[in-house]
Amino acid sequence: MARYRDENRRLWDEWSDTFQSYWNANTADGELPPAPSPFDTDRAGGMAPDPLEAVAGADYVELGCGGGQGSVGTARLGADSVVGVDFSGEQLRHARQLRDFYGVDARFVQGDVTDLPLPDDAFDLASSEAAFQMVPDLDRALAEAHRVLRDGGVFVLSLPHPLYEALDAETRTLEGNYLDAGPREVTVDDGYESTLVLFDRTVADLSNALRNAGFEVNRMLEHVTDPVADADPADSDRPDVLWEVPRSVRFRAVAR
Ligand SMILES: C[S@@+](CC[C@H](N)C(=O)[O-])C[C@H]1O[C@@H](n2cnc3c(N)ncnc32)[C@H](O)[C@@H]1O
Repeated sequence: MARYRDENRRLWDEWSDTFQSYWNANTADGELPPAPSPFDTDRAGGMAPDPLEAVAGADYVELGCGGGQGSVGTARLGADSVVGVDFSGEQLRHARQLRDFYGVDARFVQGDVTDLPLPDDAFDLASSEAAFQMVPDLDRALAEAHRVLRDGGVFVLSLPHPLYEALDAETRTLEGNYLDAGPREVTVDDGYESTLVLFDRTVADLSNALRNAGFEVNRMLEHVTDPVADADPADSDRPDVLWEVPRSVRFRAVAR
């Protein structure tokens, strides 16, 4: 387990500048760098019933915050306190830059989601986007998310959809096994020393793991990737299958 975690942490330190450049806007031309919150109402698959009311005044933590887009976006929605946790120092460097760009209040802390450097019962809201599929010990990460949330606190967990991950979109064939939870090693760039290690749990396994950690799953969403969400497949040269298979799965779970 520790070997996979260390491999992923090294990879993120190596990949961070390039990964964050995908997010960057042309700020010289007046564009703002994106900072979407998982609680934005107009986000694909946005969280009903009333995410804005839940965010204003809440204490919020983002787990595996990367470049801090979710943390900064949620601070801008009115959260009272915001903490982002990530194990990559390089990713956190970008997160602090984004925070300073927007001038919001958010604290970024280096730590592992399976061993959070945070007190018990400290938050009303938690979220994690595209991070828990890299965590070898999912049960421990979910137990930590539950520990830092207050009773009734909401956890929004979003992951790449395991069916999409098993698919080759160009050939419309399964290149992986939906039922194989990994580890699956991916070479992001031949120039990097480290690989990305992924664990593609099934939707049922993810839902059951949340329940086992003490969460009540009260909403689940599967949605297509943001760039295709509002587009017409007929006007696009992207593979049709991107409109037919969800890109991500998102759970809204309440800590009990
Ligand atoms: C694909 S990025 C997503 C970042 C951000 N949530 C977003 O949506 O852009 C995954 C992030 O998870 C972090 N991560 C992966 N495993 C982690 C762990 N065990 N503890 C803390 N952070 C982790 C990585 O460093 C990376 O920043």
